[in-house]
Amino acid sequence: MQVDLLAGTGYRPLALPRTQPTLLVFDSGLGGLTVLARLTQACPHANIVYAADDAGFPYGRLSEAELVARTLAVMERLVERFHPDLAVIACNTASTLVLPALRARFGIPFVGTVPAIKPGAMATRSGLISVLATPGTVARDYTRELIGTYATAHHVTLVGATRLAGLAESALKGEPVDDEVVRAEIAPCFIEAHGRRTDVVTLSCTHYPLLLERMKRLAPWPVTWIDPAPAIARRVADLLGPAAPLLPPESTAVFTSGGGLSAPLRIALAGYGLAQVTIEPIPLAA
Ligand code: DGL
Repeated sequence: MQVDLLAGTGYRPLALPRTQPTLLVFDSGLGGLTVLARLTQACPHANIVYAADDAGFPYGRLSEAELVARTLAVMERLVERFHPDLAVIACNTASTLVLPALRARFGIPFVGTVPAIKPGAMATRSGLISVLATPGTVARDYTRELIGTYATAHHVTLVGATRLAGLAESALKGEPVDDEVVRAEIAPCFIEAHGRRTDVVTLSCTHYPLLLERMKRLAPWPVTWIDPAPAIARRVADLLGPAAPLLPPESTAVFTSGGGLSAPLRIALAGYGLAQVTIEPIPLAA
């Protein structure tokens, strides 16, 4: 992705080789696992803390003021407990709003996940792009600014899906997911007008790649689906610089509620290298 996620922050690559940096990967739930998978490939020596604020899930329904307060409060606890060298906000809903407040509050670099409007604009041939995201992300000024900066020559359809993140969590937990509900959620992405039709859909919620194969199957016609996770992982690897590990990296998953930690979910987490799971209770009202 070409969008400079750290523009204006003054961050430069951590120049010296790190023995064993700790990466904090943060999301409202399980969607950040799609970013984690790329990060562990790009930064195989880093210790990983995967933090799911499942007590706050879904973030798409929180007001902007609630979301800023919630993310700062949870990050406060996580930074105090795990002392990360770098945090990846693997959540578009939070990144499109909270990054400036996080950078102002904490002395570590933050890498965000924002809608891939510029790569979408570069990839489209028909000029019809759809941004599939949460209702929160599509409502952000930040998202509109990205469109104004990179995609004014194109027609961009913003689709705020209300149920897709929850369905993605269900799929990962091995619970049944109704194809017709997924079909209805993605249907507004597919536009036909004046002999042209949508040819690019950006996956602008980190949960959605968990449903990618299903969405490809249910799409009314083939499109290019853009997942920004590989670009985010490259960016993080650049920032961390070369590693000189002394020990095998450690990975742990942290949940702020832990309410939905079923056996199939634990197996799925282990598949992402997260066999160790801890609960750091942070109720939503806190
Ligand atoms: N995974 C998140 C995102 O990228 C948000 C899902 C939610 O909590 O609503 O937007």
